[in-house]
Amino acid sequence: MVDLLLGLQWGDEGKGKIVDVLTKNYDIIARFQGGPNAGHTLEFDGIKHVLHTIPSGIFHENAINVVGNGVVIDPVIFKKELDNLEKFDIDIVSRLLISRKAHLILPTHRLLDAASETAKGKAKIGSTLKGIGPTYMDKTGRNGLRVGDLEFDTWRKKYRALANKHEAMIDFYNVDIEYDLKELEDEFCEGVEALKKLTFIDSEEYIFKAQEKGKKILAEGAQGSLLDIDFGTYPYVTSSNTTAAGACTGLGVAPNKIGDVLGIFKAYATRVGSGPFPTELFDKDGETMGRVGNEFGATTGRPRRCGWLDLVALKYAVQINGVTELMMMKADVLSGFETIKVCTEYLYNGEKIKHLPYNIESDNVKPIYTELKGWKKDLTQLTKAEDLPATLNEYIAFLEKELNVPIKIVSVGPDRLQTIYR
Ligand code: GDP
Ligand code: IMO
Ligand code: MG
Repeated sequence: MVDLLLGLQWGDEGKGKIVDVLTKNYDIIARFQGGPNAGHTLEFDGIKHVLHTIPSGIFHENAINVVGNGVVIDPVIFKKELDNLEKFDIDIVSRLLISRKAHLILPTHRLLDAASETAKGKAKIGSTLKGIGPTYMDKTGRNGLRVGDLEFDTWRKKYRALANKHEAMIDFYNVDIEYDLKELEDEFCEGVEALKKLTFIDSEEYIFKAQEKGKKILAEGAQGSLLDIDFGTYPYVTSSNTTAAGACTGLGVAPNKIGDVLGIFKAYATRVGSGPFPTELFDKDGETMGRVGNEFGATTGRPRRCGWLDLVALKYAVQINGVTELMMMKADVLSGFETIKVCTEYLYNGEKIKHLPYNIESDNVKPIYTELKGWKKDLTQLTKAEDLPATLNEYIAFLEKELNVPIKIVSVGPDRLQTIYR
């Protein structure tokens, strides 16, 4: 069976930390979608690590990490990630395997991302500018360059044809973008050489055989359900299926081989980039969440928008993914708030509704809140569920009742050890 770990909000829920914590229970950790738009942070022994493409199980000797076919890889960023890991004495070649069917992000994909965003002006998605959209467009348009192509000399020809097409497309956007393609291509080729030092596999076959041998596999999601290309707040989404079904297509796992679906959410909500966010705060409370929670994007450094937990959206994510267990992150950030608010309904065109409307926008949906008592206690040193303050337990019980799924982990700080099991 393959268990899934999925972000249930707009990303940055703390997936990296939890995958790192859970890796001791698994033989394989596999990424199935997204690319270096992801920034997964994990912390232990006083060191903070940020991973973009490499799965978050990489620091554990017991597990093999797989980058699946659904992922898009930028060799340039990938090389930087490898370089950053060098000092940690990890036998990367034996611990990290790459799917031949994963698509490559070309330098011109990044330029196209920037050109498209510039052309959109105010309506921009707020993309991470990592070339994600254009790369997935070439994948579904059947023009993409894949990791497996690098095993054949003809890859440069394919690359050139694609890059030429991109240059014409960049011209079409008619926006002011300066670039030195030669320099970018040199960097790309260096990245390709670094990537080629790793083992390329038919990852669906590898995962299938591993299942036959009874290996325990965890699929690590990137982004979050509300950024899903089909079910998120379109068009302010990413270009892959971040929800449970994405693990089937992004790894080649049959639906009946999916085991536990672990859903992860923050005790409040954040969003980076543009798009609707009904519970967004523009006041002191939002500012406190951002400051205490250190809410800055792990990939772009942009400040994250902050707000109260949106239970309407969270319920939707739990349903779409078939979540069997929940994990609540960053509970420590809410310590000190007199009152905790949770959005349990929306006011939409003067009507109370309990679902995400098709044309959701920040200003046509007003949150209706249920208020709960806050807690004062600093949670960051706690290790046992018995020590959690009573009002936090009330908050947890309220969410469990509304969502009808147990909250098994409460996270009280960024470190591996700041994790409480219930
Ligand atoms: P991911 O993209 O889902 O892996 O999440 P990110 O790494 O982008 O963002 C989560 C941030 O919160 C990181 O800086 C983590 O170190 C941090 N973090 C994770 N869990 C907790 C927690 O329980 N409390 C606090 N204060 N920080 C946390
Ligand atoms: P992790 O895995 C938060 C957001 C971008 C933008 C939109 C589209 O760390 O949770 P893209 O570059 O994918 O075309 O951007 O999606 N976004 C994320 N927000 N966490 C992420 O990943 C994200 N990946 C993309 O900010 O709004
Ligand atoms: Mg992140």
